[in-house]
Amino acid sequence: MINKLEELRAKALSELDSIKDPKSLEAWRISYLGRKSELTQMLRGLASLPVEERRAAGAAANQLKSFLEQSLSQREEAIKEAEIARAIEKGKLDVTLPGYPTTLGRLHPTIQILRQMCDIFVAMGFEVVEGPEVEWDYYNFEALNIPQDHPARDMWATMWMDYRNEKGERNMLLRTHTSPMQIRVMENRQPPVRVIVPGKVYRYEATDATHEAMFYQVEGFAVDKNITMADLKGTLFEFARRLFGKERKARFRCDYFPFVEPGVDMAIDCFVCKGAGCSLCSNSGWIEILGAGMIHPEVLRRVNYDPDIYTGFAFGMGVERMSMLKYGIDDIRLFYSNDLRFLKQF
Ligand code: DAH
Repeated sequence: MINKLEELRAKALSELDSIKDPKSLEAWRISYLGRKSELTQMLRGLASLPVEERRAAGAAANQLKSFLEQSLSQREEAIKEAEIARAIEKGKLDVTLPGYPTTLGRLHPTIQILRQMCDIFVAMGFEVVEGPEVEWDYYNFEALNIPQDHPARDMWATMWMDYRNEKGERNMLLRTHTSPMQIRVMENRQPPVRVIVPGKVYRYEATDATHEAMFYQVEGFAVDKNITMADLKGTLFEFARRLFGKERKARFRCDYFPFVEPGVDMAIDCFVCKGAGCSLCSNSGWIEILGAGMIHPEVLRRVNYDPDIYTGFAFGMGVERMSMLKYGIDDIRLFYSNDLRFLKQF
């Protein structure tokens, strides 16, 4: 077999030397390295050789294979260079012409703002954690103090998975918010925890300028001894100033979310009209940017944190909304309709 390999090498090389065009080169490749080539057949036949012969023959055959592959690519290069040289000679190729500009890719606007948001929280000592987009009813609702049949479930139009548990209940869904990660994280850790959760969420909703069926949220929460509403305010006001400008004012108003008590919505003063009233802020001077509150004792109990010892705050916000506010984008559908005229502006 070794002899045969030697013969093969000599024959292949002498043929290769005379090849001058890509077509014959491809024919050469098929006949010496292709599936039906002698060498490939030999490599396949190795298994049937007696053990003593197998090792040396195998090594030699593989060596020939890589040698032929190398020779092939060298020849390929040489042919290409010769072609270029011929084209220049004939005047067909003007190497002094400018080249075609290469278009550079970029990050999607959602990811750009998401990274800015995460950077701000990371600088304040938060850790970034991600979680599943397909979620159990338990994490998305139940453990967040939203029991089955509770009217608060209507706040999140839900897309359910085609799945039922052994009791016949539909209990698997596309998460409607990133809040379920509060539970998943706290189940696995002891306080202090300071975590933010960026990610996709889904809603069973008709799309319009301010609604998409899929969008991004950033959830955040902190639990420790002595965490108060003042910590929540300080954290979020500072976040708003870093994202929307140093001179930003912020406002808390009462709001209801089942997993916090008290719950608030936070607004910033409109940076277009500086509070005077314009179309961006519907003439109110204020723009709502997120929901937040002090984590409900019932939620802490679920994860075996003692609410008499620990307290915490939580907040959640839409990512595209931040980008829309910051860059004056008036239709959320632009983000995911893949129109380069839009995407290239970021
Ligand atoms: N999960 C809420 C939503 O999607 C947003 C939210 C509100 C998150 C208040 C929170 C919170 O953590 O405390 O509408």
